[in-house]
Amino acid sequence: MADGVPESLAGVGTTAIGVALIRARETDRDDRLYEDPYAQAFVDVAEREFLDPGSPEHAATWATVRQLVDAFYEARTIGVRITDDLLQDAVAAGCRQVVDLGAGLDTHAFRLDWPHPVHLFEVDLPAMFAFKEPVLRELGAVARCARSTVPADLREDWSGALPGLGFRETVPTAWEAAVLGFLARADAQRLVTVLTELSAPGSRLTCPQMSAAAVADTVRSVRGVERVRDAATPAERGLGPDAPKWLRALGWRTEVRDFGELARSYGRPQPDGVDAGVIVATLG
Ligand SMILES: C[S@@+](CC[C@H](N)C(=O)[O-])C[C@H]1O[C@@H](n2cnc3c(N)ncnc32)[C@H](O)[C@@H]1O
Repeated sequence: MADGVPESLAGVGTTAIGVALIRARETDRDDRLYEDPYAQAFVDVAEREFLDPGSPEHAATWATVRQLVDAFYEARTIGVRITDDLLQDAVAAGCRQVVDLGAGLDTHAFRLDWPHPVHLFEVDLPAMFAFKEPVLRELGAVARCARSTVPADLREDWSGALPGLGFRETVPTAWEAAVLGFLARADAQRLVTVLTELSAPGSRLTCPQMSAAAVADTVRSVRGVERVRDAATPAERGLGPDAPKWLRALGWRTEVRDFGELARSYGRPQPDGVDAGVIVATLG
């Protein structure tokens, strides 16, 4: 973990804290695209740790996280709403399990209505849940569907724990996989190969398809960004530009939705410098 991050938050991705900041900011808007009543609490706890008196270095990192949030807010906040809608579409289409890969500090199980019985699994690194769960407990948050946490590294054996938690391979699953963009190409491909083996026909997979160069340009535009080591997404990450073709070879039917059109459908302008789409894949 970067030196500029307090020991108490080591292992909690600063990008996850950044997205919590984005959800808190959106929740405050009158014209909000979604409401996350838990996001501000995560931000408050993280901010206290960063601004703990005596560490100018941690305070500088926090300032950089805020600048990254400014740089990515417009695009990322629309991304949150897109994911919410795609997960709910998948459930409406018959998926009864949702797996949020790299769930971070998102609270889909708590903040969305699930009109059908759903079991939602959150997978992230153990340090993330060590931070997240006490905050949710303190808030008295109650999940609106069955919820299981899976503390695991997605580059290793993350799926072994699923059956014991009630995951069934015969039930169509909605996979939220934005985390692919944070994984090296080989790890991202291995992850999708494994989740495909766990997917019944009718399962859905959603992940953004974005230009690594555009993301890198935005990251570079933020002063002091080298303090936030997990912010960068180098070119050889994720499934890459051939993702739809690669997914089709595994049996997924793919559709790529244009990010700008989706943004406009929510009444928001297309964010500057975003060259992206959203892959929606259905198995079988
Ligand atoms: C951008 S963040 C959070 C995204 C989250 N979906 C949200 O909207 O807040 C990416 C998440 O992926 C997690 N992550 C990154 N690499 C991982 C890995 N190898 N195994 C498990 N989780 C990982 C990070 O811990 C972080 O929570």
